[in-house]
Amino acid sequence: MVANSAVGTVKLTVQQAKEGTREIEVESGDQLRAVLMAEKIDLYTTWGKVWQCGGVGQCGTCIVEVKSGGELLSERTAVEDKKLNGKPASWRLACQTLVGDGENSGEVTVATKPQ
Ligand code: FES
Repeated sequence: MVANSAVGTVKLTVQQAKEGTREIEVESGDQLRAVLMAEKIDLYTTWGKVWQCGGVGQCGTCIVEVKSGGELLSERTAVEDKKLNGKPASWRLACQTLVGDGENSGEVTVATKPQ
């Protein structure tokens, strides 16, 4: 019998100050920045729009605040430790964050532009 290789699903709620709240169904293991960009969610501040690095962990502008469900996300990376040094522990860089581990499921809420 073939093993069940089902991929988990994460319900991602995105809180935006101006555009309101969006709910997105995410395949567990997807990169948070890629999900937000695909959904045309305005991730960057004006400064970030100009200087964002395209998701390679160099600019530190793709910041989101994790409101709940952080245990489903990938571990904070060394890049995040450096770029977010002195910032709240709930802040993550979307380009460094995976939503789920590929198998788990659950609910995550993030807010864009906490800075
Ligand atoms: S997009 Fe530059 S650090 Fe994430």
